Amino acid sequence: MWKPPEKIRWTPDPGHLPDAAERASAILFSPLQSGRLALRNRTWVPAMVPWRATESGHVTPEVLDWYGRFAKGRPAAIVVEATGIRDVPSGPLLRIGHDRFLDGLEQLVEVVRTQSGGTTKLFIQLIDFLAIKRRPDRVKFLERFLTITDAHRRALDMPDADEADVRQAMIARDDSDLEQVLDAREFEALTKGYREQVNDMHLDHIRELPRVLPDLFAEAASRAARAGFDGVELHYAHAYTMASFLSATNRRDDGYGGTAQARVRLPLEVYQAVRKAVPEDFIVGSRFLASEAIDGGSTIEDVCHFATTFARAGMDFLSLSRGGKFDDAKQPKVGAAAYPYTGPSGYECMPQYISDEKGPFGRNLAATRAIREAVREAGFDTPVVAAGGIHSFDTAEAALNDGTADIIGAARQTLADPDWFRKLETGHGSDIRLCEYTNYCEGLDQNHKQVTCKLWDRVQLDDPGVRKSLDGKRRLTAPDWTPE
Ligand SMILES: Cc1cc2nc3c(=O)[nH]c(=O)nc-3n(C[C@H](O)[C@H](O)[C@H](O)COP(=O)(O)O)c2cc1C
Ligand code: SF4
Repeated sequence: MWKPPEKIRWTPDPGHLPDAAERASAILFSPLQSGRLALRNRTWVPAMVPWRATESGHVTPEVLDWYGRFAKGRPAAIVVEATGIRDVPSGPLLRIGHDRFLDGLEQLVEVVRTQSGGTTKLFIQLIDFLAIKRRPDRVKFLERFLTITDAHRRALDMPDADEADVRQAMIARDDSDLEQVLDAREFEALTKGYREQVNDMHLDHIRELPRVLPDLFAEAASRAARAGFDGVELHYAHAYTMASFLSATNRRDDGYGGTAQARVRLPLEVYQAVRKAVPEDFIVGSRFLASEAIDGGSTIEDVCHFATTFARAGMDFLSLSRGGKFDDAKQPKVGAAAYPYTGPSGYECMPQYISDEKGPFGRNLAATRAIREAVREAGFDTPVVAAGGIHSFDTAEAALNDGTADIIGAARQTLADPDWFRKLETGHGSDIRLCEYTNYCEGLDQNHKQVTCKLWDRVQLDDPGVRKSLDGKRRLTAPDWTPE
């Protein structure tokens, strides 16, 4: 993972632990009731892909264990990992693009209900993503995959050369020369692997996205309601299709790109289709980026416009993330695909303990606050979820107090200790296993390995009933915690 050049080392700080009186008056532990959204308190586990579904996208016993363990910590809400809405193979990512996935998803709902004693609301994150290919072998790409055009002949000053000679001339040049010969997309396909983009209007299926996506999301959401989920989170964040529509890099000329008003149109139409397809009390919110954290990304004014548009349309919550884009991702090795969390914007998404002077904790809070303020000034009280490096009562409570957010999301801290919110709430804060923000878990995610936390995955490995990783070396869920 990319790290800020300052390389300042930060240590997570549990802060002060609230006493009984502070716990009783804490906003963090107070109920939230806003429109359709009712939560027992302000604690929230954001989506985390654990790479535990089958190759066909079905729920497995390991998926059930993962969510069951989070549910034992009784957060007010859990968002199930990014789940594919199309009926197409996508490796061991959960899928919801067909009724055959319903049985497994119903079991997932049941496990969370049982393990949380019915106290945790369960949402599922709905995702669409575009095709991405692995970085090709250079010679194979230039010899076979690249379509040779007259533009290449002109750039090489070989106007009448036949195709084979043009290919050989390219192979003989180094990459910096080739950058002058290939167009930007071809050069990207050569050096990073081909990646579809929402701007690819020459491709029928990309041009048609605004026509097909509302129904695909609506059908998936309707399935989520049938499986018993309390709601859905529309994934409009990071490197995926809907975030690319919102992005300032969206240059589509069909009324769905260019200005902020046009870029928010499809996300809005998707939301409206979803809303129509689900029961009246079903929760529909979205996760989007407070900042893309890339050069030429959306401005904070753009994002405030998106947020107020979603609030006006009636979304039940707005969850804010940061970065995680392909645009600045590291060049993958030959045979590997680019990964959107490897560049500076990836750092902003899951900031690691080696950081700059701002540090990895709460980096998204200032932008989140500005966006929530814009939503409130526009007259809407839609709840806002903050996330990014939050691991202490003090930071959480301050963010709730000063108008930054209404709900506190903690992904890695909850992976490190699924009981941490509960420990704080019940006066057992000194038992909290604090996340070290080393991103061992994120490394596993990047390699599509079953995600665990380094603080507990080798602990009590031989306890009866412990389910282990495929290589048998790691336990797949955190050891249980019983208050003394
Ligand atoms: C292993 C892992 C998987 C993740 N998967 C998702 C995902 O499916 N959808 C999503 O919106 N964010 C995902 N994230 C990002 C987190 O939800 C969260 O925004 C990020 O980790 C920053 O919050 P934190 O500092 O509390 O961990 C993932 C993070 C990790 C560590
Ligand atoms: S592996 Fe555990 S301690 Fe390390 S960043 Fe992930 S959750 Fe935190």
